[in-house]
Amino acid sequence: MPPGRFAIRTFGCQMNAHDSEKVANLLLHAGWAAASNAEDADLLVVNTCSIREKAEHRLYSDLGLLRSWRERRPGRLVGVGGCVAQQEGDALLARFPQVDFVFGTHNLRLVPALVAAAEAGRRRAETAESSDLERFELPARHPALGRATPGRAYLTVMEGCDMFCSFCIVPITRGREISRPADAIVREAEELAADGVVDVTLLGQTVNAYGRHALRRRATSTAATSFAALLRRLDAIPGLRRIRYTSPHPIFFDAELVAAHAELAALCPHVHLPAQSGSDAVLARMRRRYRADDLRRLGERLRAARPDIALTTDLIVGFPGETERDFEETLALLRDLGFADSYSFKYSARPGTAAAELPGAVAESEAQARLEALQDLQRSLTLAYHRARVGGETEILLEGASSRSGRGGHREQLSGRDPWHRVVNLDPGAFPDAAPGELVRVRIAEATPHSLIGEPCGDYRSAAAFIEGSAASGR
Ligand code: 5AD
Ligand code: SF4
Repeated sequence: MPPGRFAIRTFGCQMNAHDSEKVANLLLHAGWAAASNAEDADLLVVNTCSIREKAEHRLYSDLGLLRSWRERRPGRLVGVGGCVAQQEGDALLARFPQVDFVFGTHNLRLVPALVAAAEAGRRRAETAESSDLERFELPARHPALGRATPGRAYLTVMEGCDMFCSFCIVPITRGREISRPADAIVREAEELAADGVVDVTLLGQTVNAYGRHALRRRATSTAATSFAALLRRLDAIPGLRRIRYTSPHPIFFDAELVAAHAELAALCPHVHLPAQSGSDAVLARMRRRYRADDLRRLGERLRAARPDIALTTDLIVGFPGETERDFEETLALLRDLGFADSYSFKYSARPGTAAAELPGAVAESEAQARLEALQDLQRSLTLAYHRARVGGETEILLEGASSRSGRGGHREQLSGRDPWHRVVNLDPGAFPDAAPGELVRVRIAEATPHSLIGEPCGDYRSAAAFIEGSAASGR
């Protein structure tokens, strides 16, 4: 009998995208094959997000479609994981007969067993939280597991969050903060490099809080490593050319981490720095533990270490009690920090969080107007940043289709990201034979509001020499 085929649908953040990869790896090891699409699949896993109400509703609208998907072929199975699964657990099984199993954020390793139970007709939900490191120990990468972008990979360094910002559901869905031992992370990074990965993104809900609990306990284990020390070890791995991390919390930028941006050649000149608001009153109610001026100073410290650094951010508008004046302070912060990009959201009350109990709800129409004003300002800041880059050189890791399809017909765009995390589009005809996963050297020819347009720069394959040069000149 041919093996069953699975498909995974992922909502939400990069941690979820990486968890889906881990589940795919486990299923491949258990003898399943990847389906090319949902119609082809016998097993569909939905990896859910509950960060905002809208994200959570995606699951519920999906489940309607999944009922008919499941009924179209006998024996089909549906599994639900991720943050909604962690919160709802058994309730999902009780409410939705089309769901065959549920797994929480700490239970990825149980997926093959849950599938086997479901095949035998037993519907189970596993959402127990665990505080041991076992859950990070996963089988080696299966040869059949593809990479979304060749040459690029995620690497989990810590998980969970102990910050309890008043708006955020993550401490509830992802549990307590736990850092992996540095040796295990370095080993995984070496394996990635040996596998051809050149660009690695370190993941954690508060990634730069890495190791802090172990450090406080003066643990003698290798987990008692600071985040900056971990970065130094990763920077020394030959072959790893770009290291990024997401998402840091502003209060965990110590002097050592800021200095790392001046010192480490592979550490990208880009920091995603979630600000959330520019109003001290709102930040206090959000329980963010910093003031707007702390962010301004942090921006200056990072720029002193690495003058060309690009900063991006997350912002929430319409938080309970946010006045027009508070909102203007957010706009002022945006201008002062000159963010190259931002992700902005209307506040969404999450049951179980402290902010859900706060008075002073902002009217939907007002929140929408603020969101639009903020996004207008960001568009002009992004364009200004892009324009300043025109004429400069960079190297990009090629993604997506590089196919020169169809005899004179439509050619697909070639694109990739540069060390500053900007999307650079290229004319595939100017880069013959360039393939996804390759680093190419380009000159920025044009700026658009959303991306840059690049053209070949000298011998565009000489990116290797360029990267070292760019890190040195950025100091
Ligand atoms: N409402 C709106 N946005 C939220 N975020 C987190 N929780 C909420 C919420 N309840 C945003 C924050 C965070 C990003 C991942 O999502 O800006 O940084
Ligand atoms: Fe949520 Fe705050 Fe933790 Fe980030 S630091 S995951 S916003 S609680």
